[in-house]
This record gives sequence, structure tokens and C-alpha cells, in this order.
Amino acid sequence: MELVNCFIKSLFTSTVLLILSLSSFAPQILADATKECKFPAIFNFGDSNSDTGGLSAAFGQAPPPNGESYFHAPAGRYCDGRLVIDYIAKSLGLPYLSAYLDALGTNFTHGANFATAGSTIRPQNTTLHQSGFSPISLDVQYYQFNDFQRRSQIIRKKGGVFKGLLPEAKDFSHALYTFDIGQNDLTAGYFLNMTSDQVRASIPDILNQFKTIVKYVYDHGGRSFWIHNTGPVGCLPYVMDRPLIAAGEVDEIGCASPFNEMDQYFNFRLKETVIQLRKDLPSAALTYVDVYAVKYDLISHAKKHGFVHPLQACCGHGGKYNYNVHLGCGSKIKVKGKEIMVGKSCKDPSIVINWDGVHYTQAANKWIFDQIVNGAYSDPPIPLRMACHRH
Ligand SMILES: *[C@@H]1O[C@H](CO)[C@@H](O)[C@H](O)[C@H]1NC(C)=O
Ligand SMILES: *[C@@H]1O[C@H](CO)[C@@H](O)[C@H](O)[C@H]1NC(C)=O
Ligand SMILES: *[C@@H]1O[C@H](CO)[C@@H](O)[C@H](O)[C@H]1NC(C)=O
Repeated sequence: MELVNCFIKSLFTSTVLLILSLSSFAPQILADATKECKFPAIFNFGDSNSDTGGLSAAFGQAPPPNGESYFHAPAGRYCDGRLVIDYIAKSLGLPYLSAYLDALGTNFTHGANFATAGSTIRPQNTTLHQSGFSPISLDVQYYQFNDFQRRSQIIRKKGGVFKGLLPEAKDFSHALYTFDIGQNDLTAGYFLNMTSDQVRASIPDILNQFKTIVKYVYDHGGRSFWIHNTGPVGCLPYVMDRPLIAAGEVDEIGCASPFNEMDQYFNFRLKETVIQLRKDLPSAALTYVDVYAVKYDLISHAKKHGFVHPLQACCGHGGKYNYNVHLGCGSKIKVKGKEIMVGKSCKDPSIVINWDGVHYTQAANKWIFDQIVNGAYSDPPIPLRMACHRH
């Protein structure tokens, strides 16, 4: 196994050297940097921001009214419709990603999604039942990717229907690898009553584990990486509604400042990590996307962008934010012996930002995607369709 890895590594190294030496003589390769990438597949790693059915497949479907605005039924997404990752796939001309864990009706020809809602970068020491954080942490998502890459090729050789459901071997090196994970590592710390100093102190370890996984994917042929930073969770009802937010810890728009400051610090260190990875991985194209800035702009200037009540959930129940941690979107309560579902209380989710107190609506996701697709929030500032080119 070690030997095989070693062989593969030296093979990669010699390929890289070959490409480097070619490019110094061949101007047409430089011209290629203006060409669109034609990603044949997307492999996604993440949490609920990009889960298209992983947690639902393993631990029970996201209940109605999730999915109703677009799929007209639950579709494994914690949203009324599509997520940013869906818009990414669509804009690249690829089908919506099947969740790796979904056993039924899946088609992995153009990629697979390893994300599950509640995932963290670091494995947690609590169960899903205890804390709500998924056991499918980033290291587990990588094991699944590794297994997928190896076994998909064995199974593909059987031909027939298998061939039409799995990617080709060469697709792994031309695919786009997307990451949107980390926000739960920070909230997990807070929810376990860690102080801000303790959460901050855990960030280098969290990012070290992130870096390790990106390097593993690179060792498996991954070259194009599209990495979202962490959004302002301090503006989400499930965080703002916590008793640990003291008065005076809210900013001018009402968001929980300690959380947003922690997210920004995490993002600052994440960007440093990406810069380091560019040095460590000589032929990787790594794009860092400032999703935080986009989401904060949307929430703080909601009206200007055509949205209303930026801090209130559409699907929820009670309180200042239409959110109750014990009565989540789609859950059922008994009132005078009659079963009532916690459903949509906003009239029109297409002008609301927050779906269920934790996640964004389809309309917000589409808006966020529209801001990031052309590279305006990226480092380097290149459009999604050019994200295979190293700058
Ligand atoms: C889980 O526990 C181990 C052993 O005590 C510790 O090293 C690790 O950091 C803990 N993980 C988290 C996410 O707290
Ligand atoms: C899987 O999806 C691809 C792309 O949409 C399609 O070409 C292929 O026929 C599908 N496979 C099966 C077995 O339906
Ligand atoms: C955190 O502190 C709160 C308030 O003191 C307490 O109710 C809760 O059980 C604590 N949570 C954990 C995981 O220790």
C-alpha cells in the first residue's frame, strides 16, 4: 500500500515536472488559461450548506415543507429548494449531485456529494443524538471519497448500467472539488460551553485537519479546489436565540457579534491555510470564496436586495426570530390532542432570506450564487468556470 502510494506520488511529481517544463516553452499553454475549464464532475465536501441528501439517507428524510418551492417534496436538502451547490452544478452544465450515502436513484456520472448536515471538520466526541452534529465529519467524507474513487472504477468495468452511473477514471483529475465546511466546528465549541478563547484556540487544529484532507484529495488526483469560507452564523436564529448571547453582544443589525467575530477570525486563518496550500501543492488551483461577505451584505442590506425580515425564519415557530430549537421546521406538535405541523409562516419564501432558523432559502442561495459565480468575492478573482487555472 505504502509502495503503491509512493509510486503514485512519484508518477504525479514527474507529470507535474513535465507540465512545468512544457509550459515554459509553449505560449499556447498560457493562452489556455483563458479557456473555460469544462469540469466533467464535482466532488463536494461539506455540511448542511451543501448537503443534497446525505444526512437524510442515513438518519431520516428532512421533513416537509423542505423542498416544496422547487422539488415539490422533500429532497434531502434543508431548504425550500435548491442550494448554492445546486446552482454551481447547473451553471457548469452538470446534473444536481447525488449524495454518496443515498442508496436509491443515484447517478454519479458527474460527481458525488459527501456533505451531510451537521458535519464538522474535526470528528466530534458527541453523538448526533446528543449534540446534533453529524458523525460524517470531513475525515469520514474523505474515506468515502477514497472508497468511491477506487471502487467506482472496479464496478464501472462490469459495463452495462454500471458504466452509465459512474465517472471515468480521468474525471477525477479534471473535476471541481468544492468545500463548504467549518461553521459547525465553531458552534460545536460554543454549544459545549467553551469560552471564546477556547474556541479560538481550537482553530489551528481544525484548519490543520482541513489542510490534511485537501492534500489527500490532491494525492488522489484532485487539482481544482473551490473553497467557501464560513458565513456569519451570528446572524442565524439558531445562534441568536441562544441564552449565551448577552445584551450588548449584538451588532447594529442585531447579529450576535462574538460568533461573527469568531467566523471572521476562522476565515482569516482559512485564507492563510489556502495560501500555504498553494505553496505545498504545485499544480493545484485553489480558489478561496468569501461567502461571509456575501451573506452579511445580503442580511444587512436585505431591503436593497429585495428581501424582507432578514433575521426571521420562514419555517418555524414563535419567539423573536420565529424559531424554537425544540420545534423545528417540519416537526409535529400536539395541540389539544390534534397533531399540528410546524410549517411555513412566511407568505412568500422567494423574498425571505432565512428558511428554518439555520439555513438559507432557495431565493437567498440563488442570490448568493449570483454574487460569487463571476469571481467578485474570490481570491484569485476568477469566475467559477475558470477555476481550474492556477494563478
Ligand atoms: C475529542 O477527544 C479527544 C481526546 O480527548 C481530543 O483530542 C479531541 O480534540 C476531541 N475532539 C473535539 C472536537 O473536541
Ligand atoms: C446518469 O446521468 C447521465 C448524465 O445526466 C446520463 O447521461 C446517464 O444516462 C445516466 N445514467 C443512467 C443509467 O440513467
Ligand atoms: C452549558 O451551560 C448551560 C448553562 O449553564 C447548561 O444548561 C448546559 O447543560 C451546558 N452544556 C454542556 C454541554 O455542558
